[in-house]
Amino acid sequence: TASGDWWRDAVIYQVYVRSFADSDGDGVGDLRGVRERLPHLARLGVDAVWLTPFYVSPQADGGYDVADYRAVDPLFGDLADADDLVRAAHALGLRVIVDVVPNHTSDQHPWFRAALAGEPGARERYHFHPGRGAAGAQPPNDWESVFGGPAWSRTPDGQWYLHLFAPEQPDLNWEHPEVAEEFASVLRFWLDLGIDGFRVDVAHGMVKAPGLPDLGHGAQATLIGTQPLPFFDQDGVHEIHRSWRRLLDSYEGPRIGVAEAWAPSSERLALYVRPDELHQAFNFRFLKCPWDAEGMRTVIDESLAATTSVGAPTTWVLSNHDVVRHVTRYGGGARGLARARAAALLMLALPGSAYVYQGEELGLPEVLDLPDAARKDPAFLRSAGQDGLRDGCRVPIPWSGAQPPYGFGPGGSWLPQPAGWDGLSVAAQTGDPHSTLELYRAALELRRALPGLGAPEAGWAQTAGEAGSEDGAPGPTGMRWLPAPEGVLLFTRPGFACTFNTRPTPVELPAPGRPVLSSAPVETDGRTVLLPPD
Ligand code: NOJ
Repeated sequence: TASGDWWRDAVIYQVYVRSFADSDGDGVGDLRGVRERLPHLARLGVDAVWLTPFYVSPQADGGYDVADYRAVDPLFGDLADADDLVRAAHALGLRVIVDVVPNHTSDQHPWFRAALAGEPGARERYHFHPGRGAAGAQPPNDWESVFGGPAWSRTPDGQWYLHLFAPEQPDLNWEHPEVAEEFASVLRFWLDLGIDGFRVDVAHGMVKAPGLPDLGHGAQATLIGTQPLPFFDQDGVHEIHRSWRRLLDSYEGPRIGVAEAWAPSSERLALYVRPDELHQAFNFRFLKCPWDAEGMRTVIDESLAATTSVGAPTTWVLSNHDVVRHVTRYGGGARGLARARAAALLMLALPGSAYVYQGEELGLPEVLDLPDAARKDPAFLRSAGQDGLRDGCRVPIPWSGAQPPYGFGPGGSWLPQPAGWDGLSVAAQTGDPHSTLELYRAALELRRALPGLGAPEAGWAQTAGEAGSEDGAPGPTGMRWLPAPEGVLLFTRPGFACTFNTRPTPVELPAPGRPVLSSAPVETDGRTVLLPPD
């Protein structure tokens, strides 16, 4: 891809900084740790790194509660470390994307402290309102926080403030001109430091419906849903994204914006990536899709159609720091791993851009048995007793060695790592042709090589002809579905084909050509191939 369009098919690796690599032995990952491990990412073959928030923060929500948007939290290093990291990444040909958190600040941000202190006008930058009922003792409306409980907390003087997430994350009022000015300046600060783009946290939440109307029926602020909500995906957010796009485009680039947006449909999501808005939006429908060929195909088709209609690339995401790791979602154990390996090849074979969450290239499962006392996720702390929440996917990475912390750092690790992760470490998997790490490396290498291979192999055209292609000519993405048995997906793209068996049993297909890469051994006699289960 021409360098100006690098983001259209980029593979972007998500570094959850706190859990990636610890350089100073405090058990918490840091920016120097990331810099020291950049060669792993270069060798893996990704195009860019996305760093989760490393800004000054009380860490009520893993740094998504920012108290100073222009400074590095001492936990993670300092500005010189950020600068070094960006330079070192660029020297290796890796681009760097950082998080920006515009929907809310920390309750320790100077603006919120001023608001609590009663400084004139300071409350207008947030959503402060009187309560309802006798003595205003009831919250101003019935919205609930994503982490559980009311989306409102009361201040000692009786007013309420809105927080769609934890009480330590008050929502900003984007109608206030200083809010937009401040974030434009924050974006410039990091762009001037040389970063290549932003991942925009809660990009669908900054604007609330006028009058903050009740939902009725005690409905909850579910992150993903198909019904419109008065606090998410309001039309007004697009004005903000347009202004940010103008700002990004004013830099030599391209510098990109990636929306973390939850919208009720693929069409609504595509609005965030219109040509004058952000470059990409995470496509969480793929991540949410169960292990089902028909369902996956529908999501793939609808996702591609929606983004293609606005000229943007689709994105594919299997895991991130907010969801149960996909090895575990797909059933865990050997079966979960087999499926995760297959899903990785599917994701990397699809047109568009893909996100790899740290550790998925190692086939890490979710850690399900963390002691409650070790957990830090506010979602866990607020709805005590629930498991399956977000600490189990944030356990620090095993790099090498036989014992915890498996090379994560010289000290311990902020969340305990399971016994037996030595076999999953980067060192243990390197050079093992059957390892998940080597599968990812091979897939990423192939992904770079294949577009140059040119015309589809003759065998594929023949197969399509014989079977009678139901879908006709390839679409604008160069992708074309071919008929396949139930439970199997089969498509071509220029230069190669991808076939994906969701069944628990092997499937025999006419051999379409030479197998170049498979998630599990494929048998072929030249005329047919036997696709293994999962
Ligand atoms: C989405 C982030 O990915 C998540 O970790 C965070 O808790 C919320 N936004 C709130 O900032």
